[in-house]
Amino acid sequence: MTIQERIAALGQHVNEMKAANAAELEQLRIKYLAKKGEISQLYEEFRAIPKEEKAAIGAPLNRLKQLYESRLQELKEQIGSVAASAEVKEDLTRTPDPIVLGGRHPLSLVREEIVDIFSRIGFTVADGPEVEDDRHVFSLLNFAPEHPARDMQDTFFIEKTEGEQRETDVLLRTHTSSVQTRVMLNQKPPIRVLCPGRVYRNEAISARAHCFFHQVEGLYIDKNVSFADLREVLLYFAKEMFGEDTKIRLRPSYFPFTEPSAEMDISCDICGGKGCAFCKGTGWVEILGCGMVDPNVLEACGIDSKVYTGYAFGMGVERIANLKYRVKDLRLFSENDVRFLEQFESC
Ligand code: DAH
Repeated sequence: MTIQERIAALGQHVNEMKAANAAELEQLRIKYLAKKGEISQLYEEFRAIPKEEKAAIGAPLNRLKQLYESRLQELKEQIGSVAASAEVKEDLTRTPDPIVLGGRHPLSLVREEIVDIFSRIGFTVADGPEVEDDRHVFSLLNFAPEHPARDMQDTFFIEKTEGEQRETDVLLRTHTSSVQTRVMLNQKPPIRVLCPGRVYRNEAISARAHCFFHQVEGLYIDKNVSFADLREVLLYFAKEMFGEDTKIRLRPSYFPFTEPSAEMDISCDICGGKGCAFCKGTGWVEILGCGMVDPNVLEACGIDSKVYTGYAFGMGVERIANLKYRVKDLRLFSENDVRFLEQFESC
């Protein structure tokens, strides 16, 4: 290509130059106008051209250079105005983007609802340790020495350190009934407490069982407390929790710490009592254990069983949450998967 042809070709392409930012613009400047750039190169060659031809080439070459300079200037201005408008976007006086708040855990929601229902009829909340001893979890609650709950298969025991002497085994509490014993040992009747908390059992983890879960325990001790009082309180709870139409039924059962003992079913919330997969076709679902506090337990905890009587009940929070939210797999409650947690009430 002759020098004229190259000038003409470059002249045609001047408007194809594009630059999105200052760095790209600088690349273009280097390519064409810097010392070794294509146009500067043409000036180099121009020097060697015979005098008589110079006039015909010099004028277009100068025009070409001007064209490139003004195109680069134009691009520079465009980039400048884009950058300026980007700066405007960063308005430091603007309020921050809305912060996404976390949700309440479904088990917390259910626990709070249970506590709220009972606090309306005078129950206060009591607390106790999760790492407990055999005495508070079993002995004081009338468990026989050979009771299977004391077996390693059912309960997590805390190993002794070398040379450690203990009067009683230390373990992870298997039920919140242990808080009952602490309250009875420390308070005088009338006692009316609710004890929510986490409990542990040596179970294989599956969709239907976990090695830890949550319970809420209730205890009422006063003069003349009867089974009828227990039944009324539980009916009140069931209606508040699951709706006015909910029915309850009490079935005889056995717990070492209550006599008589019962298990309470509510009419199935899912099928309305007609029978479905959840209630295994019976129309009823079991939600708690309860009974009159065994006189042996009262006496062991320093309460005169000739003067006082009381009732107790204990329920699983996961079970109630399942009924309310139809969660099929128990493991979801402890996996902290935000896709699960997001579905419940947000803060
Ligand atoms: N502690 C029992 C359990 O974990 C539940 C229970 C049953 C608690 C009857 C009570 C009760 O207070 O009276 O299965």
